[in-house]
Amino acid sequence: MEVYVTREIPVIAEILLKKKRIKAIVFRKDNPIPKNTLIRNIRNADGLISLLSDKIDRDVIDAMPKCRIIANYAVGYNNIDIDYAKSKGIIVTNTPDVLTDSTAEITLALTLACLRRLPEGQEMMINNKFKGWGPKLLLGLELSGKYFGIIGAGRIGTAAAIRAKAFGTKILYCSNHKNKFLESVTGAKKVTLSRLLALSDVISLHLPLTPESFHLLNKGNLHLLKPTAILINTARGEIVDEKELIKILKNNKIFAAGFDVYENEPNINPELLKLKNVVLLPHIGSGTFEARDKMAELAAQNVIAVLYGSKAITPV
Ligand code: GLV
Ligand code: GLV
Repeated sequence: MEVYVTREIPVIAEILLKKKRIKAIVFRKDNPIPKNTLIRNIRNADGLISLLSDKIDRDVIDAMPKCRIIANYAVGYNNIDIDYAKSKGIIVTNTPDVLTDSTAEITLALTLACLRRLPEGQEMMINNKFKGWGPKLLLGLELSGKYFGIIGAGRIGTAAAIRAKAFGTKILYCSNHKNKFLESVTGAKKVTLSRLLALSDVISLHLPLTPESFHLLNKGNLHLLKPTAILINTARGEIVDEKELIKILKNNKIFAAGFDVYENEPNINPELLKLKNVVLLPHIGSGTFEARDKMAELAAQNVIAVLYGSKAITPV
């Protein structure tokens, strides 16, 4: 059996597949695989391990007549035409849980970096502009005692809230479902989206990109944010109307925003790069050695399970 892997991922995946006599063919270049190269190489694939940067649309799915599983190396799977894959009898899996801690940690990292203006401090040092301690130098805001609002209260949102709670925040959340675990561990209160936006000092997004969540934050509700609020996005860029957010940041209507994800990745809106009140990361939420190893292992195990006739471990 043969599995096509669209980019080099931690070697554990190939080791596990090989043990089960599944041949992994890996695109070993340091750039995302071009669509036509992908289509040319997957004729004989019984399975595909894809990245969130690969668009797995009808053309790609049609090019793999033997394919039984698409194992996405990510927790999000908005890059895959799930309905079409399903209609072809293809199982789609993702890598939940194993990247929860790393993504929750980067949420807090972005939060503190925004509140305490870490990039501005680093820039000052690098440019030799530090002239000594100053009573008003780069003043920021404390996390302690603030309202930390999460939109989406699944695994990652819950993990971020638990960490924020340890910093002395009060947790608000907005979700389609009541999360009893979150409430009992952090004392979180469930509120409507507009209340969350109006009350929170930190607003952090933790929901998948779907037609319903596209531009969930937009011109109609971004104005609700407090002037001292910060917005953190480690989910998907398209959940926020980025142009509107940039306007708000330009006019200092909020304190700052921390981005790990963008609309139209990897093409970044140049306006964003001119702003001082942002912290920008290159989509590295799950980017720890620990998480990436476990993601590779889980993707391979999903492939093995399905190709050997068992149930997928983490189907979407
Ligand atoms: C990262 O963005 C993921 O969905 O795993
Ligand atoms: C700051 O460095 C202080 O000693 O207060």
